[in-house]
Amino acid sequence: MFNILKNIFSNDIGIDLGTMNTLVCTADRGVVINEPSVVSVNTETNNVMAVGLEAKRMLGRTPGNIRAVRPVRDGVIADQAITEEMLRYFISKATGRFKIMQPRVLVAVPSGITDIEIRAVRDSALKAGARDVRLVEEPLASAIGVELPVEEPTGSMIVDIGGGTTEVAIISLATIVHSESESCAGDAMDEAIIQHMKQAHNLLIGERMAEDIKIEIGSAYEMEQVKSKQVRGRDMGQHGSSLPRTVTVTSDEIRHALEAPVSRIVGAVRKTLDNCKPELSADLIDNGITLAGGGALLKGLDRLLSEETGLSVTVAKEPLLAVVHGTGVMIQQTQHSVFDHPQNTLIGRGNRSA
Ligand SMILES: Nc1ncnc2c1ncn2[C@@H]1O[C@H](COP(=O)(O)OP(=O)(O)OP(=O)(O)O)[C@@H](O)[C@H]1O
Ligand SMILES: [Mg+2]
Repeated sequence: MFNILKNIFSNDIGIDLGTMNTLVCTADRGVVINEPSVVSVNTETNNVMAVGLEAKRMLGRTPGNIRAVRPVRDGVIADQAITEEMLRYFISKATGRFKIMQPRVLVAVPSGITDIEIRAVRDSALKAGARDVRLVEEPLASAIGVELPVEEPTGSMIVDIGGGTTEVAIISLATIVHSESESCAGDAMDEAIIQHMKQAHNLLIGERMAEDIKIEIGSAYEMEQVKSKQVRGRDMGQHGSSLPRTVTVTSDEIRHALEAPVSRIVGAVRKTLDNCKPELSADLIDNGITLAGGGALLKGLDRLLSEETGLSVTVAKEPLLAVVHGTGVMIQQTQHSVFDHPQNTLIGRGNRSA
């Protein structure tokens, strides 16, 4: 009976507000929402037409007066009003019909976030219907989500490669001791593929096709088998037309096209290691590096990073769910509840300034 009451009244939720995907979990039901961070807006009335999956289907195919927007860019809020609408939709969908009280919300945000951006996220969540909001650094949530020993006095490294940002962090005693936030991740890989298709094949392709190519045949390391894929796009006029055209691309050429963004990601990891205290560096020899976020699924990235750093590298089991799982673990803690943290602090930041 007590548990039933507790569940009715405690509707805490955790949110991973990502550039590409927003995930929401509740303490008792786990991940309840996993949808693209997209909103479609009528440009004449400014009304929101659709949010999430439904809005993504409209991307690139919208008629003149409907615009599909990604309100979160590089992990931070680019359009506050639209982010608020998106959060309102997700929060009410997550809390469902039986909401008696407005929920308390824990939002994971990138570690490079500024104080102004922190305020923007908090205000959006409050206006979207949260009664209380706390923010946690994404890498800490991610590390908790993949069950790294974050509470212990030993250094663990997590690299979260999302759509907009790559977050590299070394965590010890539940605090991020070193971190790097690089605005180069999955989106930059897609863009590199779009550029390659233009330059090498005179073919214009959309973001979704670029992402498909990356997921199907993209890699960061030479693979044993060369694969190929038929790619459809629009001819750029070089052949006297701008008609649809199909070309065949190989995994080798896509690997080369991905070299620039991949080396920026490797660079962020190396920079974090360079700045790291010797004791923590020594811990990493035992603990290795854990990769999370959707970008961690790029084939061969673990092998390349391992070669470049000399450390062992593991891809998390469910890399796309790491952050939201972490927020789920955190909202379930009843002894040192995250909601007991002072309102204006960022959980995980410790004494570092913004
Ligand atoms: N199998 C795969 N191979 C390579 N990349 C992948 C794969 N699956 C997903 N991705 C990429 O992962 C990215 C999305 O990851 P994720 O959902 O972690 O990002 P996000 O949390 O929304 O972004 P951010 O953390 O930057 O705000 C996209 O760029 C997507 O193309
Ligand atoms: Mg993310």
